Amino acid sequence: MVKPRICLPRPLTCFVLAITLAFSLSVRAEDRSPDVAIAAAQGPVAQNGMVVAQEARAAHIGVDILQQGGNAVDAAVAVGFALAVSYPRAGNIGGGGFMVIHLADGTDTAIDYRETAPAAINAKSFLDAQGNADPQKSRFSALGIGVPGTVAGLALAEKEYGSGRFTLADLVAPAIAMARDGITLDDDITNEQTNILARLAHWPASAKIFLKPDGSVLAAGDRLMQTDLADTLQSVARDGPDAFYQGPIAWKIAAAVQAAGGVMTVDDLKDYHAIERTPVRGSYRGYDVVSMPPPSSGGVELLEMLNILEGYDLAHDDETQTLFLMIEAMKRAYADRALFLGDPETVKVPVTKLVSKSYAADLRAGIDPEHATPARAIRAGGDSDPEGHNTTHFSIVDRFGNAVSNTYTLNFSYGVGLVADGTGILLNNELDDFAAKPEAPNAYGLIGFEANEPGPGKRPVSSMTPTIVLKDGKPFLVTGSPGGSRITTAVLQVIVNVIDRGMSIADAVAAPRVHNQWQPDQVFAEPAAPADVIAALQARGDKVVQQRPFTSAESILITPEGFIGAADPRSHGALAVGY
Ligand code: DON
Repeated sequence: MVKPRICLPRPLTCFVLAITLAFSLSVRAEDRSPDVAIAAAQGPVAQNGMVVAQEARAAHIGVDILQQGGNAVDAAVAVGFALAVSYPRAGNIGGGGFMVIHLADGTDTAIDYRETAPAAINAKSFLDAQGNADPQKSRFSALGIGVPGTVAGLALAEKEYGSGRFTLADLVAPAIAMARDGITLDDDITNEQTNILARLAHWPASAKIFLKPDGSVLAAGDRLMQTDLADTLQSVARDGPDAFYQGPIAWKIAAAVQAAGGVMTVDDLKDYHAIERTPVRGSYRGYDVVSMPPPSSGGVELLEMLNILEGYDLAHDDETQTLFLMIEAMKRAYADRALFLGDPETVKVPVTKLVSKSYAADLRAGIDPEHATPARAIRAGGDSDPEGHNTTHFSIVDRFGNAVSNTYTLNFSYGVGLVADGTGILLNNELDDFAAKPEAPNAYGLIGFEANEPGPGKRPVSSMTPTIVLKDGKPFLVTGSPGGSRITTAVLQVIVNVIDRGMSIADAVAAPRVHNQWQPDQVFAEPAAPADVIAALQARGDKVVQQRPFTSAESILITPEGFIGAADPRSHGALAVGY
């Protein structure tokens, strides 16, 4: 097998590159002069293909597939299965997600492999005896586990849009090898397991894989062996997705969920289908923006915010003004998310209106460019904490002109923490993304109403925003992020930073981010956001709180010089690798 190689202007290794980036970023945080920013703006450049993912082993697996003649979809499928082994906090086959695909022939499509609620879930499932939302049920019990969609989604993507050079088994094989041979743990994984020790320790089937016999976490340098997961993946490789959704694996998943107090049945698994959807599409200053439609709120909100912002000139150095207007756009889009977004199979989401230029013009008319709009003047609401990297995003482009933007998740880090005994599959707690009750906040402080009420077979609204920006019909920017409610605003800022603010992709990704989600009525800013800008936002009436960095936008910019990858420096192990 040919070894991946990053084509850099100078022959640096990935490791040196990562160190260089980290160093330049720390310089940038202290000294934000334009010269330093330009010097820091070097991402790996490659001519033939690029993978940017949050975990290096998986990124290399993707590039191997590209080098063997695979297309971006083949690589995405291999990366998706690989991360389920090498990045267990978020990579998964027990969760779900979304893939946006642009094909060289101009086709844009989207694969919805979001988890579904089991048939026994209803509008009252996540309430306590008093009728209040009960986060214990939706976040920390087996009731919150949705029927996993990842295997169906990746298999559908491969069947419809893979190059045909590989079988599904070929693409699952690297993941099987890592699961069976084990992976050496680094600090990033072991620290994360320490953070969520209680959740893993709670379930014996999980503890026996992820913890030592004495109940402590595996240390950096230890090997994580996932032999049950290897067997499960082997079955999928041999028999396709039916091996997951019917037969012994499905029986074990349903048995484990029911034994833990959940309601998933083998029929729920048998009935699961990934759905191919038409992406939402809009334009922004001459670029086309292709993103995920409902049940994700991401694409609709992103287009709504971009449409609002298009009415302003943002190509200037007044950072306060740019951030202020972005925040005003965020408030309005998140209010609409709360009210209108739901599973499109059960509610009519007014997508056409929400992504229209005329609706954006109406919203823009309500923005006072000097004074912050209080949330109550828009609509009613919740509470929010910063999230870690508990979802994961990867971006891939190939030399044929195809691009894939994929975000998938277990919701919380390691999902609900439960491994279905005998399968190695970590299960999600995605059903917390429903509005357990109108106006009851989910774990990300997002509120919703009837449109996102829990119900049998329904898909909870998501914030995941895998996005491809096109220029003259060809991929220009591939991006997306983890981060719960902050995903969509991260994607917005990467796009605006590149298109309006003229930043390199490395700077656009690294630049300090802000976030507002309408409710709570607060702006969250990363620590590196400049103090004078924060003071200026506060003077206009925004309530700004600084929190640790959030989100991780693994991105690729396609330029005449080649594909430029940007691994987000917020993620410890993220890697951009090309050839
Ligand atoms: O689908 C969603 O919007 C959430 N379940 C995503 C969770 C997430 O991004 C957590 N991590 N950073």
